[in-house]
Amino acid sequence: MDLRGRDFLKLLDYTPEEINYLLDLAADLKDKKKKGILVDHHRGKNIALIFEKTSTRTRCSFEIAAHDLGMGTTYLDPSGSQIGKKESIADTARVLGSMFDGIEYRGYGQEIVEELAKYSKVPVWNGLTNEFHPTQMLADMLTIIEEFGHLKGIKLAYMGDARYNTGNSLMIACAKMGMHFYGCAPRKYWPSEELVKTAKEIALTTGASINLTEDPMEGTKDADVVCTDVWVSMGEPDEIWAERIADLKAYQVNKTIMNNASDKAIFMHCLPAFHDLKTKIGAEVGKKFGITEMEVTDEVFESSQSRVFEEAENRMHTIKAVIDATV
Ligand code: CP
Ligand code: NVA
Repeated sequence: MDLRGRDFLKLLDYTPEEINYLLDLAADLKDKKKKGILVDHHRGKNIALIFEKTSTRTRCSFEIAAHDLGMGTTYLDPSGSQIGKKESIADTARVLGSMFDGIEYRGYGQEIVEELAKYSKVPVWNGLTNEFHPTQMLADMLTIIEEFGHLKGIKLAYMGDARYNTGNSLMIACAKMGMHFYGCAPRKYWPSEELVKTAKEIALTTGASINLTEDPMEGTKDADVVCTDVWVSMGEPDEIWAERIADLKAYQVNKTIMNNASDKAIFMHCLPAFHDLKTKIGAEVGKKFGITEMEVTDEVFESSQSRVFEEAENRMHTIKAVIDATV
C-alpha cells in the first residue's frame, strides 16, 4: 500500500482496504510507542498546522505525532496568520506547500480544505470541518477494534446532532467498514439526503447498513457502540442553544439508553463533552436552561462502559499513521 502524496480530506476518498491499512499502521505505531521503540524516519521534515477553530486533542495529536516521527511543526492559530483575511486559500496553499511537507487544516466549510489541497503540492489533512472529521474516525475505528477485535457487523448508534461533522463522518465510516449505522435524531438533524444516498450505495458493496430513526430506543437496541457529540458545534451561534436543548434532550445518552444497548456495549464521544457543569459554557448553559448534563449524563461518561479517554489517546496514534503514510 503506497499512500505517499495523498491528501486525507474525508473517508469518502479512501477505500476500505486503505482505511484498514491506516488502522493497522496506527496499531503498530501505538505498540512501538508503548515499547519505547522510536519511529523517527521523517527527520528533517516539517508540517504546518492551521487552526481556524480551537482544539485540544487534534492539535496535540498532530504536534506529538510529528515530533515522534522526527518532524518540526508550525502552529498557526485562528488569529495568527493572514489566511482568509489578507491572503486567499489558493495563495496560502502555494506558499505553505513550498515550505512544508504536509499541511493540517481545521476550519469551516469542507470546500476550504479541498481548495487548500488543490493548490498545495504536499499532502493536506482535514483536522475538522463543518461537514467531516476524518482523523476522528480513524481513532474511533481503532478504539472499536481494540474492544471487539473487528469492525464488520458492529452496530453503532449515534445519538443527537447527526447532520454535522461527527454524525456525517460516522455514517460514512460505518458504510465503508461494513458496520450497521443507526442515526437517532429528529428528522431535521439527519445527514443530508445526498450523503445518506452515497452511504447506502457504499453499504451495498461492504455489507453495511445505514439506518435513521427518530426513536432512540429502536436505534440503540442491542447496539455495540453508542456515540454522541455536542449539541452545538464550534462556529454555531450561542442563540441556538435553546432550540437544540428542546430538540435533542430526548436523545441524551443516559443509563436507560445504555441498558437498552448490548450487555457489552461501550460509550464513545469525540470530546469535549458537556457531562457536568464543570466547564464555563456547561455552567452558563446549565444555569440558563436548568439542566446539569447535556448530550451524555455524568453517570454514563464516568461508567466502566465509557471508552472516551482511550478514544482520545487513539487520536494521536491514528494521526501519526496518516502523517507517516502520506508524507
Ligand atoms: N475531538 C476533537 O477533535 O477534539 P479537539 O476539538 O480538542 O481537537
Ligand atoms: N461537532 C463538534 C466536534 C468537536 C470535535 C464541533 O464541531 O464542535
